[in-house]
Amino acid sequence: MGTMDLQDGAQVRRIAVLGCTGSIGRDALDLAIRHPDRLRVVTLACNRDVDGLLEAAERFRPEAVAAADPWAAGVLASRLDGSGIRVVSVVEAAAWPTVDVTLVAIAGVAGLRPAMAAVETGKRLALANKESLVAAGAALLRLAHRSGSEILPVDSEHAGLFAALQGVRRGSLRRLWLTASGGPLRGSSAADVAAATPERALRHPTWPGMGRRITVDTATLLNKGLEVIEAHHLFDAGEHAIGVVVHPQSVVHAIVELADGSLLMQASRPDMRLPIAFALAYPDRWAPPEPAIPPTGLPDLQFQPPDREAFPCLDLAYAALRAGGTAPAVLNGADEVAVARFLAGEFPLGHIPRLLEAVLGQHKGGAEEPELDEALAADAWARERAAAWRPAAIARGASR
Ligand SMILES: NC(=O)c1ccc[n+]([C@@H]2O[C@H](COP(=O)([O-])OP(=O)(O)OC[C@H]3O[C@@H](n4cnc5c(N)ncnc54)[C@H](OP(=O)(O)O)[C@@H]3O)[C@@H](O)[C@H]2O)c1
Repeated sequence: MGTMDLQDGAQVRRIAVLGCTGSIGRDALDLAIRHPDRLRVVTLACNRDVDGLLEAAERFRPEAVAAADPWAAGVLASRLDGSGIRVVSVVEAAAWPTVDVTLVAIAGVAGLRPAMAAVETGKRLALANKESLVAAGAALLRLAHRSGSEILPVDSEHAGLFAALQGVRRGSLRRLWLTASGGPLRGSSAADVAAATPERALRHPTWPGMGRRITVDTATLLNKGLEVIEAHHLFDAGEHAIGVVVHPQSVVHAIVELADGSLLMQASRPDMRLPIAFALAYPDRWAPPEPAIPPTGLPDLQFQPPDREAFPCLDLAYAALRAGGTAPAVLNGADEVAVARFLAGEFPLGHIPRLLEAVLGQHKGGAEEPELDEALAADAWARERAAAWRPAAIARGASR
């Protein structure tokens, strides 16, 4: 099915925006405002931010809305009574019959069931929620294969790889490189990173305004590790075929290294609206929200190897990928709790990798390619262990 040029008459994409009150969700709604002839918002979902969702609902007049939190869903039901806008579950909003593209911009593994529902019903899945692929990538891809659903990555690195890989034969590929800004603690000593407080970890230099969990994950580099696992699933690449390079300017998002040594780089302004638009519009490309950077306007581009001693979370993610089974789901679930505990001031940043290592060390593998329920069970187990973890208990915890 081709998409016509605007000159021939634009094709309107009917979208579900799940996580509409978050950083990615708000960027997607901004695109919908800029492209009323191309995007029609059909469903919206949040967790608890009822006011944010209602403001969007007033503007876009969707067919249905959802809030995961039961209290918030109740408020929506009473505030929208008689409006003609239906209040449904998040999964129903994901799989809503008139939706073409479901954007899952929910934070955390909570995005997994809605992502599955979208894929099961044959929607295009515009996936910002990397946790879905990390926790149950094989199951999600199997389902997409059966239903014919396309999965388009929204993470800027993966959108960059997807674009750079167009027309590249598999046999010509050598390595996929994900760039990392290095986060707010780039260049700090291992001791300094370990002692970092939430205030420091939340000060991102090139991607301000991201959700709090992903911002902390960029400070530990676990985010990049989760992206390695995401790339493994999306591009069917083994751990040795996926590299990470620190690129402080955040202009080059991905590099495809070919067999003959050529490097195909994808570069753009660091603006999440670009990969979101790419996932919604593919194979089309729309004019950017801000003027594009011309080649003469590019900053000096630097590329450095990551500091694996100061940022041990990166290798923990590679280890989880190597272990396979439910280990990535455990890593992600434990990290969601670890980051919440860090943000609550329970411990400094350096305790996050210690906690993750302890929980992964207690984990016993599980199914080779977990189905949804197995992934969610591993996630729940990891959360329990992560909530119970105390620094003194390292390496002595009960095993599963
Ligand atoms: N921000 C970025 O630049 C960026 C870049 C690449 C990838 N991502 C990925 O995109 C996802 C979202 O990140 P973000 O930075 O946008 O997070 P965020 O700002 O924290 O927003 C999270 C969104 O998810 C909603 N939500 C949370 N739990 C939910 C549930 N159970 N059901 C439905 N909605 C729920 C929140 O609703 P409430 O507002 O009601 O709590 C909010 O709308 C993450 O997976 C992240 O890794 C983000």
